[in-house]
Amino acid sequence: MPTVPPERAPLAAPEPREPHQARQVAESFGSDAERYDRTRPRYPDALVERIVAASPGPSVLDVGCGTGIAARQFQAAGCQVLGVEPDARMADFARRTGVEVEVARFEAWESAGRAFDAVIAGQAWHWVDPVAGAAKAAQVLRPGSRLAAFWHVFEPPPVVAAAFAAVYQRVVPDSPFNFQAMPKRALDVYQVMVTKAADGIREVGGFGDPEQWRFDWERSYTRDEWLDLLPTTGPLTQLPPDRLAEVLDGVGAAIDAMGGSFTMSYTTVAVTAARHDKRDR
Ligand SMILES: C[S@@+](CC[C@H](N)C(=O)[O-])C[C@H]1O[C@@H](n2cnc3c(N)ncnc32)[C@H](O)[C@@H]1O
Repeated sequence: MPTVPPERAPLAAPEPREPHQARQVAESFGSDAERYDRTRPRYPDALVERIVAASPGPSVLDVGCGTGIAARQFQAAGCQVLGVEPDARMADFARRTGVEVEVARFEAWESAGRAFDAVIAGQAWHWVDPVAGAAKAAQVLRPGSRLAAFWHVFEPPPVVAAAFAAVYQRVVPDSPFNFQAMPKRALDVYQVMVTKAADGIREVGGFGDPEQWRFDWERSYTRDEWLDLLPTTGPLTQLPPDRLAEVLDGVGAAIDAMGGSFTMSYTTVAVTAARHDKRDR
């Protein structure tokens, strides 16, 4: 069991690889887009409301929109959302749910002179080069608008996390993901990503000082609900079915031993900065 959303797990890969350089994992989430959309948690309404309130208008660019989870929440809040997504399988799913999507990596995406009131990225900014990404965001954001990258940080109960780490290590001994060698708390690990995002924004310039916003919440998972979500996580998206089944069996047994369900504590963390007004530049 990863102790944090595994899409950040390339941080555990041998140095000097950065998450955004691990392209095989970065663009693997469409291997089961339907399951991804069905199982991945939504973002706190308070986060969406705060970003909308802090943006000067309703046009939103969703970087790495995936199946459109965040995009649809911003649409429901009254925004017009354009997604940019390199995985055509994710983009197709998002389009079927009513989200307009252009297929590209954000760093290479052509804005064609368009401008936005907010650039958002849910669980995706670590897959983007933090400097090139901030530069592209600065290019398309109107004065007074906002960049907001956010992630869910979660930590399953220790016994579930330990079962995942042990079985994953046994089933995939050659994996660059080493959960057993991960001593830090989830929020500490995430802080590394948040700091890299903030550093990229500062390096590019043209933004106010990046802030962090934090939203704490909980949800409970039955064994089946958690085992439904787990295959959508970075270390598992490319596992052959027999190895995946072994991992799920091991985690399932740990959840059974706890009575068949558990409560997950989530923290949704955002790093966000306002684009300077022209007069501030
Ligand atoms: C973990 S998913 C998050 C999807 C969605 N934002 C959500 O909240 O569910 C990460 C997404 O980022 C996309 N991605 C990876 N590299 C990217 C890049 N360089 N530019 C834009 N999107 C990227 C992946 O294809 C994937 O759909």
